[in-house]
Order: sequence, then structure tokens, then C-alpha cells
Amino acid sequence: MKRLAIIGAGGHGKVVADCAGFLGWDSISFFDAAWKDKLSDPRWPLLGDTSTFIRKINEYDGVIIAIGNCEIRWREYLKIKSSAIPITTLKHPSSFVSQYSKIGEGTVVLAGSIVNTDAMIGYACIINVGATVDHDCVLGDSVHVAPGAHISGGVTIGDLSWIGVGAAIKQGIKIGKNVMVGAGAVVISDIPDNATVVGNPARAMS
Ligand SMILES: CC(C)(COP(=O)(O)OP(=O)(O)OC[C@H]1O[C@@H](n2cnc3c(N)ncnc32)[C@H](O)[C@@H]1OP(=O)(O)O)[C@@H](O)C(=O)NCCC(=O)NCCS
Repeated sequence: MKRLAIIGAGGHGKVVADCAGFLGWDSISFFDAAWKDKLSDPRWPLLGDTSTFIRKINEYDGVIIAIGNCEIRWREYLKIKSSAIPITTLKHPSSFVSQYSKIGEGTVVLAGSIVNTDAMIGYACIINVGATVDHDCVLGDSVHVAPGAHISGGVTIGDLSWIGVGAAIKQGIKIGKNVMVGAGAVVISDIPDNATVVGNPARAMS
């Protein structure tokens, strides 16, 4: 029996639980800060918040944080990083992850996505469904590449940045830390830290 704890019982958590089931985790429980207000899913029991998980840590073989928001995901990651339990990395069987890429602990690579040759992905990232991260990209920690976003070769993306659904990033671009790239944006020039950009070509949101 392989027992996985998932922190974050929202929609993304459910997708991560489904993926983990495919990968042989046969007992999966959720923990969530708002657990009292959420309905428990009969497939995966919701047992409490992160502190409850830390008290029950010996009952699990692995843990993963499944929260879409990059800042909150990173905060939860730091809370459990030093605990005596492996933080799991999940790669959906229908994704392609190059043998020459590196994926940090706590990262999920979801269905139909691609991480190509020599790409380096940090800790606690999400490569969401159908997203692509091409060769030689370097992603920091707690980056979220949303569904169907495409990152061309040699792009760097700083910690805590979020690339919106369906966005496209031109090759070699440098995206700073804590950047939000809006849904469908086409990024053809570098983006500084803390910016939000939208549109084609992507420009700072006024
Ligand atoms: C960019 C984003 C963060 C802005 O959110 P926000 O601050 O709440 O912005 P608002 O919805 O108030 O929109 C503000 C203005 O920006 C425009 N805008 C918002 N998002 C835009 C986008 N992606 N592309 C173009 N214009 C956009 C709105 O039309 C609005 O324009 P107006 O002032 O002329 O009416 C958000 O719209 C977005 O694209 N998020 C990404 C969502 C995503 O990828 N989810 C994936 C989940 S896995």
C-alpha cells in the first residue's frame, strides 16, 4: 500500500489525485486549510489542514502540494520541506519528460504535457495539461505553466511566475520572478520581476 497526502483539495488537487492513482498511489487523502467548508469527495477523504497532516505524517509515504496559486503553493511547500517524509514528484504517464531534463521535487507534470531535452524545472512547479516546455528552458521554483501554454526553447522563468492558459513564449525570452502572463498572451520581449502582461504582443497591464 502506497499512501499519498495531497495538500490542496480544489480542482487542481483532484487532477493531481487522479494522476497519482495512475502512478500506483493506492491510498490518497486530502488536507486543505479550508477543509471545514469543503465537501469530502468519496474517492479521496479530506482529513484536515496542513497541521493535521504534520501530526499524521507517519501514516504517509509521500506528500505533494496541489495548489494552483504559486505563492500559496510555495508557502505550503516550505512548511513541509523539512519534515521527515518525501515530497513526491508526479509525471503523468501520457506526458513526455526527456531523460535529459531535470524536474525538482514536488513538481507535477500533467497529462499530455511535454518537458523537452535539457529543460530544468524547479521545485513545486506545475506543468499543467497539454503545456509544453521546450529544450534548454530553465524554470525557477513554484512556477505554474497553465494548460496549453507553450514555452519555446531557451526561455528562463523566475520563481513564483504564472504563465496563463494558452500563452505562447518566444524562444530565448527571460521572464522575471513573480510575473503573471495573462491567458492567451504572446510574449516576444523580456518581462521584469513582478509584472503582469497581457495581449499579443504582450504588454504590461495598465
Ligand atoms: C491577466 C489576469 C491575471 C488579469 O486579471 P485581473 O487583474 O482580474 O484583470 P480583469 O479581469 O479585471 O481585467 C482587467 C482588464 O484587462 C483585460 N484582460 C484581462 N485578462 C486579459 C488577457 N488574458 N488578455 C487580454 N486582456 C485581458 C480585461 O479585458 C480588462 O480590460 P478593460 O479594463 O479594458 O475592461 C487574468 O485575466 C488572466 O489572464 N489570468 C490567467 C488565468 C489562467 O491562465 N488560468 C489558468 C488556471 S490553471
